[in-house]
Amino acid sequence: MKQLFIVANFKSHKTRSQMEDWVNVFEKHLENLTVPEEKKIVLAPNLASLMLVTDKLLDKENVALAVQDISPFPAGAYTGAISGENLEGFHVAYAIVGHSERREYFHEDESTLRQKVEQAHAFKIKTIYCVQDKMTNIPDTVSIVAYEPISAIGSGHPDTPENADEIAVSLKQQHPQLTAVLYGGSVDKENVHTFTAMDHIDGVLIGGASLDADTFIDIVTRA
Ligand code: PGA
Repeated sequence: MKQLFIVANFKSHKTRSQMEDWVNVFEKHLENLTVPEEKKIVLAPNLASLMLVTDKLLDKENVALAVQDISPFPAGAYTGAISGENLEGFHVAYAIVGHSERREYFHEDESTLRQKVEQAHAFKIKTIYCVQDKMTNIPDTVSIVAYEPISAIGSGHPDTPENADEIAVSLKQQHPQLTAVLYGGSVDKENVHTFTAMDHIDGVLIGGASLDADTFIDIVTRA
């Protein structure tokens, strides 16, 4: 059985108390559910809720934490930035880097993204590097990629599993260091299995459908 990543990207959604409610519902489900070892659940809350999620879910097997972004700089005089060093003690295992929303709204370019990957790597945080197509450059230390075509994000129009699988094959051929290629873009509980059933897709990155804890648990179960 291949390892399957199921990543919830909460983006800039949820107040602290809404996130607390989400975690409570999620925890309840986990009590009654045995998540098979090969499924790795990764939660990427907004930073204002990171501590809460760390405290509540630290001891849960199969659940890991991610940040949605990381500073391209080391710790220092960079107002507003959260560096890899700042994240120490939060048990953050992954950082999403290069999401198309960061590239578009925050004007992040290849060289900034490369610095972010380096900073994550320096603090033993694995990068989940988002690409929009198979032509995007990928830094050498990246081992996990999420293929997310822009037209599929938040649109209700996912790519086809067959096309996503082909892209995954091509990404793995071009970048032999990759250990996992995920698919993201309008994944929901109805279609998740069509993606995870493909031979070369190692998981999913979920935005909108992760915001409701019951729905997210359905996705974990059906993946
Ligand atoms: P979506 O977002 O599931 O809402 O399409 C995916 C993403 O942007 O990571």
